[in-house]
Formats: sequence, C-alpha cells, structure tokens
Amino acid sequence: MRIAAPDDALTTEDALLAAALGLGAADVAGWSPAEDDLVRASASAAPGRDVLAGLRAAIGEGRDPLGEAFCRLRDAARRRPEGATYTPPAIVGAMTAWAAGLPAPARVVDPGAGSGRFTVAAGRRFPHARLLAVERDPLAAVVCRAHVAAAGLTTRARVVVGDYRTADLGREDGRTLWLGNPPYVRHHQIPAGWKEWLTLTAHAHGLEASRLAGLHVHFFLATAARARPGDAGAFITSSEWLDTNYGRLVRELLLGPLGGEAIHVLEPTASPFEDAAVTGAITCFAPGRPEGTVRMRRVAEVAELGELDGGREVPAARLREAGRWTPLTRAPRAVPAGWIALGELCRVHRGAVTGRNSTWVVRPGETDLPDRVLFPAITRAKEIFDTGAALTAGDHLRLVIDLPVDLGAFEGDELRRIERFLRAARRDGAHDGYIARARRAWWSVGLRAPAPILATYMARRPPAFTRNTIGARHINIAHGLYPRTELPEPVLERLVAGLRHGVSVEDGRTYAGGLTKFEPREMERLSVPDPFREDPPEW
Ligand SMILES: C[S@@+](CC[C@H](N)C(=O)[O-])C[C@H]1O[C@@H](n2cnc3c(N)ncnc32)[C@H](O)[C@@H]1O
Repeated sequence: MRIAAPDDALTTEDALLAAALGLGAADVAGWSPAEDDLVRASASAAPGRDVLAGLRAAIGEGRDPLGEAFCRLRDAARRRPEGATYTPPAIVGAMTAWAAGLPAPARVVDPGAGSGRFTVAAGRRFPHARLLAVERDPLAAVVCRAHVAAAGLTTRARVVVGDYRTADLGREDGRTLWLGNPPYVRHHQIPAGWKEWLTLTAHAHGLEASRLAGLHVHFFLATAARARPGDAGAFITSSEWLDTNYGRLVRELLLGPLGGEAIHVLEPTASPFEDAAVTGAITCFAPGRPEGTVRMRRVAEVAELGELDGGREVPAARLREAGRWTPLTRAPRAVPAGWIALGELCRVHRGAVTGRNSTWVVRPGETDLPDRVLFPAITRAKEIFDTGAALTAGDHLRLVIDLPVDLGAFEGDELRRIERFLRAARRDGAHDGYIARARRAWWSVGLRAPAPILATYMARRPPAFTRNTIGARHINIAHGLYPRTELPEPVLERLVAGLRHGVSVEDGRTYAGGLTKFEPREMERLSVPDPFREDPPEW
C-alpha cells in the first residue's frame, strides 16, 4: 500500500477530526458530549487508508503529525487564549527521562494534554502505567486520543475533556507521575470566578494567592491539591513565577506540599518554544519529600537538558527568604578583593518619564521656546552606546522642554511663546495623559539633575556607561549614577572604566529573547573595581 504524506490531507479542522477518528480516537476511554458535538458538526469524510497509514507510520517513529497539523490549522494567535503551545520533543524527552529514574508510576497525569505528547512519551516509557490526559479543548482532546490510539496505548489511556482545576481524576492507590506543560495564559484572560477559585483553594492550603496569577499557577495549585506523598512530577512553564509577586504561590507550594526537587531554567536566549516568546523553567517535584535543598540549574540550550540532573543545591531556607529565585540559579559571584558594590559609591536613578516624547522632546531649532527651558538630554539608549567612555559634546542631542511648575518667572515675549506652546500641547492632549495628570503641573516634566555617569539599562547586550562631562540630562531610557559624596575626576573616570569592562548581562534580569534589564537597585548591586585604588585590579 502507498503511504501518503499526511500533511497534504490535513488541511482543515474537519479533515483533522476525520483522520483522528479513522485512527481510533473514539476507542479511547472518556469520550465526551463535547466531542460528540464536534463530530456531528463535521463535514469531512474519513481519509483514505494510505493517509491513515502515513499518520500511523509517523507516530510510530515518535513524531506528532496530528499535533503539528493542529498548530498549523490554528495559528499561534488563535491558540494563545488557551495557552496552547505544544512542547518540543527534546523537552518532553528530557522530562520523561528524568521520571524514568524514579520508581515506576502506577499512573501518569498529563494536565492540559494538547495532542498528548507527554501522555504518549510516558506511555512508551512506563509500559504498565495507566495514562490520564486532561484537556479542555474538545478538538485537541480528539487529536490526543488519536495519538494515543495510533501509538498502541488505547487500553491503558483515558482522556478527560474538561477543566483540569476541577476535573475528576479518579482515585489512584499507587504513585502518580504528574507530567506536562500547563497552559500559559495571563491573568487578564482569566475569568473572575476562576480567580476566586484560586484564592479559596490556596486558603484551604493555608496560602495566599494573587489575582494577577497566570493559568500555570492555577495548574500548580490544582496539582498540589491532589498530589500525595510518594508521587512525583515535572512541569515545564514560563519562568516568570520564579521572580514575580504573583509567582509566590508556586514558590510556596514547591517549598511545601509539592516538595520541589529541582528547577532547570532555560536561558531566555534558548527560545524553548518555537511560536511563543516565553522563557522556560522545568520544575521537578516529589510531594512528601523532606525539606532540604532544591537543585537550581541553568542551561543555555534545550540540547543541554540531558536527564535533568546536575545543578547547585540551594537550601530551602535560603529560597524561603529570597524574593526572587532567578539569581539563585546562578553560582554566586564572589566579590573579588579590591572590588566594591557600585551602590556603595553611587545611587542609581532612572530618568524622568515625559509622558509624551512627541511633545516634550524636540530637535535643536525646532521650537522658539526660551533656551532656559530647553535641556540637552539623552533620549535614546543608542546615544550612550555611540558615545564611548565620555560624553564630551551635546550638539547632536535632542532637547527636553522642562518648564517650572510656577510660570511666574516669565514675562513679556518669553511668556507669550510659552503660552503659545502650551496651547498647542493642550490641543494635542499632552495635558491629559496618565503621567501628565500625576505631575504637580502637567507642563512640568521635572528632569533630574545631570548625572555624572549615565547608563543604559535595557538592551540585548550589557549596559553601556559613559562619563557625562557636559551636564546632559536623561529621560527614562537611561539611568543616572549619582555619587553619594563628591568624587574626584580621576576616580569617576576609573569607575566608568571599571563599569565598562566588568559588567555582564548575567547581572541583570533577562527576558524572553535575551533582552536584559537592570532595575536601579540591581545596578547598585553590581561590583566594580574600587576606583579609589590607583592600581585597579585586573578584570
Ligand atoms: C501549553 S499547552 C501543552 C500541550 C501539551 N501538553 C504539550 O506539552 O504539547 C496547554 C494545553 O492546556 C489546555 N488547556 C488550557 N486551559 C485548560 C484547562 N483549564 N484545563 C485543561 N486544559 C486546558 C490547552 O488547550 C492546551 O492544549
């Protein structure tokens, strides 16, 4: 028999559904009325035997042609509200391999199963385990069934179509392995009723929940509420919960009922998911595990995940007192002899927010406002990157219009020009933005004093520092470094030189895609060669 290229046949959702049924989807336990509705509404006839044979062959080789077709037919934008980002095989493989090092589970639960990648991988690894996939989307559930059926796992599997948070998962006397990729959906898209569920369920466990928590946090809680001592689990999620306020619930669950064992953070530059710009963290847990240490590890590439071993043992007590966990995934960098924290020398302040650069930032010659309200300023990070070690000329800089709150100091022609400008600004709505309304006077941007050192703080490369010798101002695209006491010029120059050589992106917090950001307090924690030493140590 000819084996057809299955992609050509799966060109509509109806065709995908028909193929799934042809592969035996309806034989997998747990068929639901929602799936009946789908089938009734579908117009496609069953595909030819050659198409089904092609699909079976691909699934037999470990591929997921049905899941791929699902993602093709529903583009990323349509899948986003459900958090449907399917897991690449290398990550499924690493997590399943980790679980294979533990005593075999009696049951595997795949929360938010999608096309069943974890269910099928676990079914192959654990030949005696019962498989329970929970999926809210009926079409994905049918696809999952077909994947399971074509992989020869029908007799051990059940697919529950419903919401994982409240679905009936039945009882299990043996060990359950919780394995999967909970959906990543931000809190704005979570209905109030489910936020209420989160709060109440967390309370029942003596914990507080934030209403800003994303759906993956709900899944952690729903798992902790059901897991029992002796179980184990591994979830891949976005890594945001490591550092955010709303993620505290996950951190507390891991230090409590879930028994966190390891956290493997994929460097944001690894882009673990093809079609979603999110960071990745794999969390391994073993409910009932006595509190001790949690292994924290960073990997630059998915290929480095291995079987999820290795990492630094971080005491639970240290994790409990830390507000952010990402820094603990890195080996602490000892401050070498002769170096000091930047914050001992300088305060770091972000520049003022104008609220509307198109009104308040102008090019030289573009306005007839009096010179004394026009301030040459750094208004783009590029200006610092391009400057080098010292900003010595300001002709190329744009000007920020910074009027005093009290305009009484102006009269005659100056006042007329200012009033004309303000009338035009008001017509443009400059008085009405959130920032403008929060100011003492909407027209007064309130620039900070010139900072002797200026720094970028958000880029795909380490921050740049420059000695500001011309008293340029800065807006909120830059940080200003303000010495706590006056520093002599040679000390300032050595400080800038040290910062320009010694700072790496690792010191900041990195977002998906490799964008690194340094909040002012984070910048103050940077260590630099002590600039008071005339023979600064090597960096
Ligand atoms: C991140 S995807 C993971 C899919 C699959 N486990 C994988 O890793 O390839 C999350 C899945 O959860 C499903 N989902 C979203 N909300 C759900 C809920 N409340 N209950 C059950 N499933 C849900 C989505 O439809 C989606 O298939």
